[in-house]
Amino acid sequence: MSLMREMALIEQVKADLIKVEAYLADSLNTGSEDFNQLIRPISAAGGKRLRARLCLLIAGSGNAPEEKRIPIAAAVEMLHLATLIHDDVLDQAAVRRGAPAIHCSKGNKVAILSGDYLFAKAFDVVAQIESVACLRVFSFIISALVEGEFMQMEDVFCITQGTERYLTKTQKKTADFIEACLELGGILGDWTSEETTLLKQYGHGLGMAFQITDDIMDYCATSDTTGKPVGKDLREGLITYPLLSIITKENEQYITDTVHAIAGGQAADELIEYVTAQGGVAKAEALEATYREQATTALAALPEFAGKSVLYEVLDSLAHRKV
Ligand code: IPE
Ligand code: IPE
Ligand code: MG
Ligand code: MG
Repeated sequence: MSLMREMALIEQVKADLIKVEAYLADSLNTGSEDFNQLIRPISAAGGKRLRARLCLLIAGSGNAPEEKRIPIAAAVEMLHLATLIHDDVLDQAAVRRGAPAIHCSKGNKVAILSGDYLFAKAFDVVAQIESVACLRVFSFIISALVEGEFMQMEDVFCITQGTERYLTKTQKKTADFIEACLELGGILGDWTSEETTLLKQYGHGLGMAFQITDDIMDYCATSDTTGKPVGKDLREGLITYPLLSIITKENEQYITDTVHAIAGGQAADELIEYVTAQGGVAKAEALEATYREQATTALAALPEFAGKSVLYEVLDSLAHRKV
């Protein structure tokens, strides 16, 4: 792949992302000024725009026209924001993107309605593109995510859930969405079905590694770096891989009692230290590395294309992710 083509694509994605921001700001200009003032700053607070970036890169590396790339990437971020707003209600999480979560500042009703509005807007944008294939991917993202959230709700405080269950849940709530962004890029950019399958495998590995890293950060990052409080999963009774990986017959009772105590208001520091000392964080890092490996293998099986090096870099940056 020529270096020129690769550089041009990287510049194009940068320019596209600026247009996506403008598209988002325009689309979230509703009839209600109160609503505008609420939703536009949260959307503009941005986040990493990982999903839009992946979609734009693959669509643009193929032959997707700008009139389709920009709206779909914006719709992906609207959908993502909707899921975050609702997720914070479900998780009772106080902070999002470094600011108070909507349900904290405005209450649950506003949070639910805002999320619903964003879902509707996202589908409206996809409908304008008139791609049934994209529409089906958007529907799949939501149904997978809801299934994952249901599983998570059933598993609260369940320290015997097992690794398989944790992985299925992780796939449904996060990896399927990230995989879907590669698929959307593939559809828009007219990639072959064989190529799209490999891109999706890359997305699966990336998405799994991404969520496992998020779960690790709940044990070791600080809220300064993540924009989210540490130990929040434990306070909600969410048992993620760092903890799951160190449970034995001997410590089962201690962990059950401590997790309940944390949910009841006790500080999480002691359990976080215990999990780390028992190698839980290291085990989760090793698991995360296996998914990055899987993604690398899928990428290596693809012929050279503009943007391939960026996909390697995205994977690599995950390993050192702090936000
Ligand atoms: C948060 O996603 C939800 C998870 C899947 C962990 P991001 O970490 O991509 O959120 P933003 O968009 O950067 O805020
Ligand atoms: C991430 O869930 C996937 C979604 C449903 C948004 P989490 O609850 O683990 O994500 P954060 O840590 O709140 O961003
Ligand atoms: Mg959450
Ligand atoms: Mg959640």
